[in-house]
This record gives sequence, structure tokens and C-alpha cells, in this order.
Amino acid sequence: MTESGSGKWVNPLRDDTDKRLPRIAGPSGLVIFGVTGDLARKKLLPAIYDLANRGLLPAGFTLVGYGRRDWSKQEFCDYVQKAVREKSRTEFRQHVWDHLAQGIEFVSGSFDDAGFDSLASRLRELDAARGTGGNWAYYLSIPPQFFSTVCHQLQRVGLTYSEEDSWRRVIIEKPFGHDQKSARELNEIVNAVFPESSVFRIDHYLGKETVQNIMALRFANQIFEPMWNGHYIDHVQITMAEDIGLGGRAGYYDGIGAARDVIQNHLLQLLALVAMEEPVSFEPSALQAEKIKVLRATHPVHPLNKTTARGQYAAGWQGSEYVKGLREEEGFDPESTTETYAACTLEINSRRWGGVPFYLRTGKRLGRRVTEIALVFKEAPHQPFHAGQISALGQNAVVIRVQPDEGVTMRFGSKVPGSEMEVRDVNMDFAYTQAFTEESPEAYERLILDALLDQSSLFPTNEEVELSWAILDPILEYWASGGTPEDYPAGTWGPPAADQMLERHGRAWRRP
Ligand code: BG6
Repeated sequence: MTESGSGKWVNPLRDDTDKRLPRIAGPSGLVIFGVTGDLARKKLLPAIYDLANRGLLPAGFTLVGYGRRDWSKQEFCDYVQKAVREKSRTEFRQHVWDHLAQGIEFVSGSFDDAGFDSLASRLRELDAARGTGGNWAYYLSIPPQFFSTVCHQLQRVGLTYSEEDSWRRVIIEKPFGHDQKSARELNEIVNAVFPESSVFRIDHYLGKETVQNIMALRFANQIFEPMWNGHYIDHVQITMAEDIGLGGRAGYYDGIGAARDVIQNHLLQLLALVAMEEPVSFEPSALQAEKIKVLRATHPVHPLNKTTARGQYAAGWQGSEYVKGLREEEGFDPESTTETYAACTLEINSRRWGGVPFYLRTGKRLGRRVTEIALVFKEAPHQPFHAGQISALGQNAVVIRVQPDEGVTMRFGSKVPGSEMEVRDVNMDFAYTQAFTEESPEAYERLILDALLDQSSLFPTNEEVELSWAILDPILEYWASGGTPEDYPAGTWGPPAADQMLERHGRAWRRP
């Protein structure tokens, strides 16, 4: 705290220009394990600075990096500052940084006993010096094989027990297992140390504004919900397409593949939000209960050889650049059979969604980066036009554009101006950038703040994670039982089998 000109004590991390009195975290600190990794550098550290810059962190907020490097406090501060200057969303303000930097600490250690003993004594000193009040969140940005060691070490040195007036939480990054069985084992390990209410599993898609807008769109309005069901909707397409390749990510990705990387988590969470019933409130337990219900009713459609597709990118033209295929990427097995494209057909056994296929697809090195959810409508039961007049009319659609140009599109037919009656598809668009002046926070800003505030609505529970694996496991087992992914040239929209999946039913993927 510093004294302002008016003689009042003010928190310099608080942005008083924001009159909506945002939710501000109480006294607390964050320890990051894996702080030298890519995720911390590109997302977590910049998000912490952005929160500080927006005035959403408490004055004594303390960030502790834990890692094997022999860094001094100053060396770690320099590392954090570099990440912040390179990647933060908000502008760099020296006074905000100077204040934040006072609470930046580094504890050098590995996952052995001695390191955790020093961590424990350092955190106690910091509680006294910085007023963190014993409130610590531990961010595990480390491979899951170390979750157990870290949780047990934290427990051994007494850092896991929430007391009456203080709390301890753990924030966990994916991958959360590689199938239902391993996810369950991981949950048991984590829950043996931290009660479920103190576990915050990150699915960064839930931190995106546009994903939260699915709930606003559906439940704050009257016009959509009456047609949000199988009476009107023919099918749903959920697409997460990326143009980037996997250079530099072999260690994580080879052997994991697209389905485990993003369908199990991001795409199934999108499906749950789009398909769930209205929750009784937006309290975590109410929201999670609805997601769990819909995930429990979701299953792959059989036979899997006709309802799923997988591919691997081969060399090709990505825009004006000729790029390598996966098997030529550094670090990947030249014989790798890891899929970089995955598509599947799911059904939801409920009155609302019976008979409506949900087509999910994701891929790397596709035509362009786009994530969207398209609800494609049935054709009108009767058309008072003759065929020629509506030959350019497709199916109506509501498209939730998650990224990059965030918004919602409604697609419907309209009369082409002229003396003839001719109907053609048109789009009616809502774009975030035009409708609002506020910039959306980064997903990690929202999620880190929510974890500090004990708001768990945007974090999948152990049950959601396990149910999501249960949906995917039969498909992964089928793929593992034989065959290899089809090659598709970089810059295209995936393997032919993905198109055939829909063509069989007279449907086609949208070309976003
Ligand atoms: C991550 C996946 O969870 O999400 C990556 O591991 C993927 O493979 C990334 O590239 C995409 O995130 P975003 O926010 O850029 O869509």
C-alpha cells in the first residue's frame, strides 16, 4: 500500500478507472511448478501481470516460481518481466510492474525432499512478510507423471491443509490422463491430498468469453431456446481448426494425438454447454450437474469405421509457405501414426437431442484457424417456391464463432433483389469487436482469478473429466486396433474420410 496525494492509503495495483468494481482476489499467493515451461512463459506469467494491471490482485500478491534452475530473485524477476513484455495483453506500466515485482520470488529445488522443505519455510516467511495469510494456490504446469510426487511432497511439508481462516488450492493443467482409467487414477492421487473443492482443473476454453457467451445466448434470450432441439435442428458441427503445425511439440504430442489433445476436453466441454439443460443457477454445483447429465447421455455413434475419421498432415502449402509433414517435423518418429486430425459422430440420448448427430472435428495444419459451433437446421417442411427459386438456399444455421472473429452468425434465406423470386443464403452477424468496446480478457486471466476467488464454475470436475474419457475411449480403442491415419496435405481441410462421414447422410462440413 502507498499513500496517495489525498492522504488515503491506496492499492497501486488497482485500476480505479474501472468503475464496475470488479471482483478482486483477497490476500493470496500463487506457486507455479513448471515455471520455465512454454505455458508459463506464454500464458500464465503474462496473465498474472494483466490481472495486476487491471487491479484485480491483492496488494500483497506473491508469485513464487519453483524450479531446478539456480536463479536468484532478480534473475527470476527478469525472466518474468521478459515474458510479460513479450506476451501481456495489456500495456506495460512501470509502476504496476514495480509493485508486482516486489512480490516475485524463486525457490530453487527439484521434486525431492530438500526442495520442498525450503519451499515450505519460504512460504511461511512470505505469509509474515507479505500478508498472504496462508492462502496459496499451487499451479501444476508439469507433466502428469509428476502430479503424485508434487502433491505428496506438498502434503509432507504441511502445505496442503486449508485452515479455518486460510486456504490451499491446486490448479492442474491437462493432459488429465490418457483414458478413463488413468484419469481416475490421477483423480484418486490428487483427491487423496486435496479435497475436490480445492482442485481446479484447467480447460482454458471455458475461460474464453465466447464460450461463456454460449450460456448467455441460450439462457438470457427467448428466441433461441424454443428451437434448440431435435424438432428443428438437423445436426450440430463443432469445429476447432488450427493452421499451425506441431514443430517443437513432439515430446507432448507424439503418441497423444488430436482426439486426446482437444476433443476429450475443449470440444466435449463445448458440446456440454451447447447441449445441456438450463441450470437452476450458475453456481458451480448447478452448472456442473447439468454438464455431467449431458455428458453421461453422450455416446459415439457406431459403426466407428463410418462415423469417425483420423488423419495426419503431410507436406503441403499453408498459404504461401511450403511446410513439412508431421513425420518430418523435428522430434517426431518418422514412422509416427499419431493423428493430427480427428473427427467423430456423437449422439446424445435425451428427449431434446434424440436423432441429432453431433459432428466434432479438429486438426492441425488445416486451411485456417477457426473454432465454431454450428447448429444446422432442418429444412422447412414445405416450400411454397419452385425448385429453381430456392436452388441457392441452404439450411438455416446459428453459428457461434468462438475464434478468431468472435461473434454469432445467423444464416437464412433472403430474396435476391430483382423482378424474379429467387431466394439465396445470407448472413446476419453479431461481432464482439463491433458491439463492445471492451477487449476480452485472456482465458488464463479469468481462470487464475477465479481459482484465487474460489469460483469453480469454469473448471471441469473429476466426474466430467472421467465421463469425457468414457465417451472417447471406444473411439481410441477402435483406432488402436488397426489401421493408420490417412495423410492429408497441409493447408487442406483434412482427410477424405472426414467428408465421407457426413456425405453418407447427405450432409457436408461447413467451410468456415
Ligand atoms: C491446447 C492444445 O489445449 O489448445 C493445443 O494442447 C492447441 O494443441 C491449443 O493448439 C489451442 O488453444 P487456442 O486457445 O489457441 O485455441
